[in-house]
Amino acid sequence: MGIPQPAFYILKCEQSAPPGMPKPSCVTPQTQDLFQYLAQRLMQEGIMGTVQPIRTSCMNRCSLGPIMLVEPGHTMYTGLTKEKIDRIIKEHIIGGSVVEEFVISKEFWDEAITPAQMQKQMGR
Ligand code: FES
Repeated sequence: MGIPQPAFYILKCEQSAPPGMPKPSCVTPQTQDLFQYLAQRLMQEGIMGTVQPIRTSCMNRCSLGPIMLVEPGHTMYTGLTKEKIDRIIKEHIIGGSVVEEFVISKEFWDEAITPAQMQKQMGR
């Protein structure tokens, strides 16, 4: 048997705006420890490895931040706090049920356009 691949990847936006920049961002002095908290909680639960946390740059949903994306499933969670991370780990990652009340609305996260469809739209 081979080395098992992760069951989940959690992509946490780690983009911070420079001081004085009016644009919102996912990492502020108040939210800068969320990635570390996520990693710590995964370790405490004994599931680090089969759940792989990944730091990413901006995913273009800054006004709803802090955000993170759970794959597989394209599930984006917004307005993260430590309490929300606890529930997402317990209910979604371990329990298997998406925490719908924290999920981004369809208005901001609609169905993906496939690369082939996009090329067609561009007339290629
Ligand atoms: S800064 Fe996180 S989505 Fe843009």
